[in-house]
Amino acid sequence: MSRLAVIVLAAGKGKRMKSSLPKVLHPILGEPMIFYVLDSCSALPAERWLVVLGHGASEVEKHLPSWAEPVYQERPLGTGDAVRSAEKALANFEGSVMVVCGDTPLITRETLLSLWEEHKITKAKVTLLTAQVSSPQGYGRVIRDKSGEIVKIVEEKDASEEEKKEREINTGFYLFEKEFLFSALTRITPSNAQGEFYLTDVVRIASEEGIRISSVGATDEEEILGVNSRVELAKAGEILRKRINEKWMREGVTIVDPTFTYIGPRTKIGKDTVIHPLTTIFGESEIGEGCEIGPCAELLDVKIGRATRILYAVAHQCKVGEGVEIGPFARLRAGTEIQNGAKVGTFVEIKKSSIGEGSKVPHLSYIGDATIGKGVNVGAGTITCNFDGFRKHRTVIEDEAFIGSDTMLVAPVKVGEKAFTGAGSTITQDVPPHALAVERSEQKVIKDWAKKKRKKGGGKSE
Ligand code: UD1
Ligand code: MG
Repeated sequence: MSRLAVIVLAAGKGKRMKSSLPKVLHPILGEPMIFYVLDSCSALPAERWLVVLGHGASEVEKHLPSWAEPVYQERPLGTGDAVRSAEKALANFEGSVMVVCGDTPLITRETLLSLWEEHKITKAKVTLLTAQVSSPQGYGRVIRDKSGEIVKIVEEKDASEEEKKEREINTGFYLFEKEFLFSALTRITPSNAQGEFYLTDVVRIASEEGIRISSVGATDEEEILGVNSRVELAKAGEILRKRINEKWMREGVTIVDPTFTYIGPRTKIGKDTVIHPLTTIFGESEIGEGCEIGPCAELLDVKIGRATRILYAVAHQCKVGEGVEIGPFARLRAGTEIQNGAKVGTFVEIKKSSIGEGSKVPHLSYIGDATIGKGVNVGAGTITCNFDGFRKHRTVIEDEAFIGSDTMLVAPVKVGEKAFTGAGSTITQDVPPHALAVERSEQKVIKDWAKKKRKKGGGKSE
């Protein structure tokens, strides 16, 4: 049986990004670039997935899935040196090694599988994924002899004018037989324009030694885009956005304007949901069927039930039930749960709270660290005063309570079932079920006060 290990190269500095963030962590649709490469690699029937880390290793490591094994390149001496840093970890492995660049997020599972199939069928010791592209600038060119056999890969910076005209490029995806790969890597030198150990020199060595080199042509030019600059990052983002949006449209989701809708690769959306422009849905989000999301919604790691409407809102790490109305202009923060049929209206912020079935917080409120039961009405301007300057405290509002407008609920505090608070009250003590709590000074009415004031000529500004 053929055995396979994968090495993903992700130790480079990414000089051309001009960034303090390691290149492979630059996000595309809410995920670091390396997520996409690893996701496609995960479809391969490999035994091991090694990721070569170097620049910003500790940061990159945090973003690796549990099945990926980090190995470390001490200094970024080039792609050949990067592969060499995985040699020790593969000491007990015999078989084929696929080398993948971590900065090529558009590669698909199908293409990687076809590269693996070709390598197995042809029994070559080296198989390259190449591509014919309209503008080969920046890529290594694949140089063939008169009979069409690959003889070498020349990097742009080392290429002659003649070689630069070549449109067949090295995509940065390769398969090697392990033994040949690591023995050839002992023979490469940094005698080139960049003073680096090029992995691509292994191809020249294979050709010189009469070792069979096979190749597969990528069918889609877009797939092999290497991201070396922020311009290419935006280009990759555009292509991925289109790819993901089209997938959901085919699944029965309406995306009113796909150019201005950003959906991450881990998000799931139910059919007959309509997504309006300027909406981002990232992370592990799940949107139910028949929802209406946006315009202008920013959702991250949310679970949303069916037939819910979210309009001009920001919701992170929270759960929203069925038939809920959120917004316009609402913010749901981490740890929030909105139950079925509830409403969170205009200029409302909710943090780490649960809003019960059918309850309403329609206007201008802050609800933090609160548990609100079913059928509760929270009047405009209500605030849970959850922070005493040192610690956070909880507010509990039981079923069918009525909170008058502009109530300050000074936590810890509890409003019992079906109880009322009077508008403008500052509630510092628990309110028993069915009671009314009013906390405000009695209103004084001074008859004809204004009339008298006017007569005296007061109250008029010159
Ligand atoms: C590389 C190829 C080029 C190919 C292109 C495809 C070489 C010499 N050139 O060029 O032929 O057309 O990819 O996109 O291989 N890396 C390390 N350690 C290092 C240097 C790089 O891990 O010391 C990693 C980078 O993080 C990156 C990958 O290797 O993920 C490729 O490196 P990069 O510098 O982007 O190479 P390119 O110039 O794009
Ligand atoms: Mg590159």
